[in-house]
Amino acid sequence: MAGSTRAKVGVFDSGIGGLNVLCECLKAAHGVTFYYFGDNCNAPYGSKGKEEIGILVERGLHILARRRIDVAVLACNTASAVCLESMRRKFPFPIVGMEPAISPAAKKFRRILVLCTPRTAESERLRRLIARHPAAEIEVFAPKDLAWAIEKNLLEKEPLLLEDHLPRGGYDAVVLGCTHYSFFRDEIAAFYGAEVFDGGEGTAARVLALLRIGRSNHSQPLVTRSTQTFEKCKNQTKNRVIFVGPCKKMNETIFISNKRSI
Ligand code: DGL
Repeated sequence: MAGSTRAKVGVFDSGIGGLNVLCECLKAAHGVTFYYFGDNCNAPYGSKGKEEIGILVERGLHILARRRIDVAVLACNTASAVCLESMRRKFPFPIVGMEPAISPAAKKFRRILVLCTPRTAESERLRRLIARHPAAEIEVFAPKDLAWAIEKNLLEKEPLLLEDHLPRGGYDAVVLGCTHYSFFRDEIAAFYGAEVFDGGEGTAARVLALLRIGRSNHSQPLVTRSTQTFEKCKNQTKNRVIFVGPCKKMNETIFISNKRSI
């Protein structure tokens, strides 16, 4: 796998949120084969029980493992918070997880709002992460349906009003602890008048480090992080990513299913 352009990476999310992380990886990982599994038949995960999430994630990783991947990415904060460690024990390849970008936010700002799913909010992993930053004032808010509303908005054009889902408040920084929220990064920044952080770039950097690929072109990001991000992600992934998810929407509505045999 080392430095190899033949490496295979499997990216998993409950739905479309992981595309944000995938597009970060695509910025540098040319020649790597990416498989994307979006389990949006079973999304949202954010309010499901831990056991059910564990079963679904394991099933998704098994489907990706059949493609003989070298590295898997849990591009889902909820899955990472609930079962990253147990999945690492079950599979032979390295698994990179998501971590809400509280550390970079706390380096610069004091009043921080973390937005994540209910399951991530109650996780021990998040509690420990927050405890590492005693100087920051960190509030966590877990909108019950925002990830699903984003999925519906982007796939089925259902209306989405952020103020129906988010609390008002004065914050210096907002940390997006759910990969779905990153599609609305610019809108959330404007909503709070605050700087927004997400874990996508950090996760992509860890994946590239495992593949021993250096990040090259910082000046021309492929992803601009607005609602147009979704369209850009679609274009960006076309012919470069093999979608293995069971959900028809992933193959028919969003992506032309890759013709290569999988
Ligand atoms: N995208 C997922 C995350 O990062 C979860 C969304 C959901 O299925 O609730 O937490």
